[in-house]
Formats: sequence, structure tokens, C-alpha cells
Amino acid sequence: MAEPLRILAFAGSLRRASFNRGLLRAAIEPPPEGAIVEVFDLAPIPLYNEDVRAQGYPPPVAAFRAAIAAAGALLIASPENNYSVPGVLKNAIDWASRPPDQPLRAKPVAIMGASNGGFGTVRGQAALRVVLQAVESYAMPKPELFVSRAQDLSDSDGNLTDAATREKVRAHVAALIAWAARLRAGV
Ligand SMILES: Cc1cc2nc3c(=O)[nH]c(=O)nc-3n(C[C@H](O)[C@H](O)[C@H](O)COP(=O)(O)O)c2cc1C
Repeated sequence: MAEPLRILAFAGSLRRASFNRGLLRAAIEPPPEGAIVEVFDLAPIPLYNEDVRAQGYPPPVAAFRAAIAAAGALLIASPENNYSVPGVLKNAIDWASRPPDQPLRAKPVAIMGASNGGFGTVRGQAALRVVLQAVESYAMPKPELFVSRAQDLSDSDGNLTDAATREKVRAHVAALIAWAARLRAGV
């Protein structure tokens, strides 16, 4: 049997009852077959500052970079802020994108997102794909997963309660596992 894929998952929202953090919980409860998913909290990551980096990566940044490096794939769940990538997420990616041993290069990545509006983070995901191109990650082209009107699909703690959407999240993780395997096999 193949080794399980190590997936590092993180959300572009710090909100306690975040719908996007709820998507990540739906991805790991129950644990997916063929993968071990670790959820990384971006809250302790400071704002990017080149002067700080020059003195060495702060411990939360070093931990994030090491977790990315150790992972076989990434799973990102993010809202869309003003049609783009939330600062929390962009900031974390900026820290991870710096030398040495830039850990995002050639990393398979699946993205998904939830919003309380009708477009389900379509523009934010498109913007995130541009960022992932810059850092040379391999963003899974399809399937895409846009969760609109998340407040109707979640409870007050941000837990995804809608069975059909939970199934889509789980299918997304399965697609990421297949995407990572395809990249490893070079097909
Ligand atoms: C500063 C800001 C900008 C936002 N811009 C958008 C937007 O462009 N498109 C959208 O669909 N929702 C937008 N929203 C609404 C968020 O998508 C919504 O609050 C979402 O639930 C946040 O994700 P979370 O539940 O994971 O915290 C914005 C929210 C904030 C705070």
C-alpha cells in the first residue's frame, strides 16, 4: 500500500467561527483515506518585514516553512477580501516564499473557499492562483470548489453542516491526493 500523503492545511481567516476554517475541519473529520492532514494556524505569523528576516525567521515563520517543506501537498481554504487574497494568507505565503530552500516550489496545492456572498470566492481564488504561480507551486487546476452563502450551510461555530458540501470537500481532498500522485509520476 502507498504511503499516506502528508497534507498541510491552512486557512486565510483567523475568525473563530470562520466558514473557511470549517471547510478544513470538514476535510479532516473523519480523516481522509490515503492522507494525513495537519492544520496549521497562521495567527502567530507576524507581518512581513525584511529587516526581521535579515536577522532570521521568527519561530512561527520557521515552523510554517518547515511544515510546508515536510508536506507532500498543501490544502488552502480562504475567503476573498475585496476581490483578492486576504492579507493574512498573502503575508504567510510571502514569508514562505523567501530563500533559502523556498518550500513552496513544486508543491501540489488545492484551494477552496467559502463566502457569505453569491460568488463563493471566485475572484479571490483566481488571485491566489497568480500568487501560487509566482512561488512556483503546482495549483490543482480542477476541480474547483466555491462555497457560496456559507452561512446557510454552516452552524454558528462555522462547522460545515450541509452534507452535499461536506461531500464536495472530501472529494476535493481525494482530487488533491490524485493530483500529487500524478505530479510524482510525471503524467
Ligand atoms: C475586508 C473584507 C473584505 C471582504 N471582501 C469580500 C469580497 O470581495 N467578496 C466576498 O465574497 N466576500 C467578501 N467579504 C466577506 C467575507 O467573504 C466573509 O466575511 C467570509 O465569511 C469571511 O470568511 P470566514 O468566514 O472564513 O472568516 C469581505 C470581508 C471582509 C472583512
